[in-house]
Amino acid sequence: MNPILVTGGLGFIGSHTVVELLAQGREVLILDNLSNSTLDVLDGIEKIAGVRPAFAKVDLRDKTAIASALEGKQLDGVIHFAAAKSVSESLERPLYYYENNISALVNLLQVLSDQKSCKFIFSSSCTVYGEPDSLPITEDAPVKPAITPYGYSKQVGEQLLRDAVAANENMRTVLLRYFNPIGAHASGHIGELPQGVPQNLIPYLTQTAAGERESLSIFGTDYDTADGTAVRDYIHVVDLARAHIAALDAIAADSSEPIQLYNVGTGQGTSVREIVTTFENCCAPVAHEYTDRRPGDIMAIYAGTEKAEQHLGWKATHSLEDSLKSAWKWQQKLSAR
Ligand code: NAD
Ligand code: UFG
Repeated sequence: MNPILVTGGLGFIGSHTVVELLAQGREVLILDNLSNSTLDVLDGIEKIAGVRPAFAKVDLRDKTAIASALEGKQLDGVIHFAAAKSVSESLERPLYYYENNISALVNLLQVLSDQKSCKFIFSSSCTVYGEPDSLPITEDAPVKPAITPYGYSKQVGEQLLRDAVAANENMRTVLLRYFNPIGAHASGHIGELPQGVPQNLIPYLTQTAAGERESLSIFGTDYDTADGTAVRDYIHVVDLARAHIAALDAIAADSSEPIQLYNVGTGQGTSVREIVTTFENCCAPVAHEYTDRRPGDIMAIYAGTEKAEQHLGWKATHSLEDSLKSAWKWQQKLSAR
């Protein structure tokens, strides 16, 4: 058995995916530069899985470092999570986003061109759809001109992979367009570790409920949605992690389709206001206020999930309450540290 390479494997989605891979008895090699994670995550993974995965601190912007970490290794698959991920921050730091999300991917693909065969899973995002014309959004919907550098970096990443696969008969890829991952592992040993002020809704909300932030701002109340606040498809991170296992299995079972593309969401749209109400009902009160829209945000998006159900045999199983309760349990653990 050869390892599965997991870039960004100490991050939020990566760490939960590593746990699922180890639970299946797979060998894992993590490359991560710790720009948005810490080494403690390895301990959390080991506590859950009973195995400590191999890890090398490597920045994917450094091609030589990637090559030396992979020297002499054949890989059974690659799951590429490493990237910067904030839609709003990307408007302030576009060049960093292009370097970290695009140049790094080019480096990785160049090094991987030595592999006898390459099964590559890519972390894309529903951001590539822009503001949808109709909902739920399905995989055949057009990719609209990106409104943020982050969204553009994911569009380019998808295209880079299409081109790399077209030029290499030994390469297969699955592009996974994630909706909004939230929650944490039920054990409480791993979860989301935002550095500094969280940009995403759920960590900001749980930090506010824990008394670490004064008040949650709800960005925008004048959207054309049922309650005026923006709508997203929030998926439990463990469900999302399992979609990667299903994607690897799908390539192994049928390699005739060199490029596969799936939405990974629950199919359920939830407004920011509904998130706050559900959290307050199942977890704790949250101080909140209503403010202006956040630049770069779209109004509403949620996934059409049929394609992933049919082709991957995968479906999200956790409820929104499960997700919020696990996020709250994780926050309480972080606050107690
Ligand atoms: P994260 O920040 O928790 O994890 C990313 C990991 O990659 C971190 O451990 C970070 O240290 C590492 N990393 C970043 N740049 C690197 C580099 N140049 N070299 C090596 N390691 C590097 O993010 P996440 O939420 O786990 O997201 C994983 C992937 O999924 C990203 O590609 C992100 O764009 C994508 N995605 C995330 C979301 C979301 O809401 N979390 C939604 C859609 C898509
Ligand atoms: N929001 C607030 N207050 C906050 C934070 C967020 O009201 O303090 C709102 C946002 O305006 C948005 C919703 O909550 O309407 C979700 O915002 P997030 O920042 O949590 O998530 P985004 O949908 O903006 O983006 C996230 C990831 C991207 C990923 C995308 C996929 O950050 O990497 O989901 O949908 F591509």
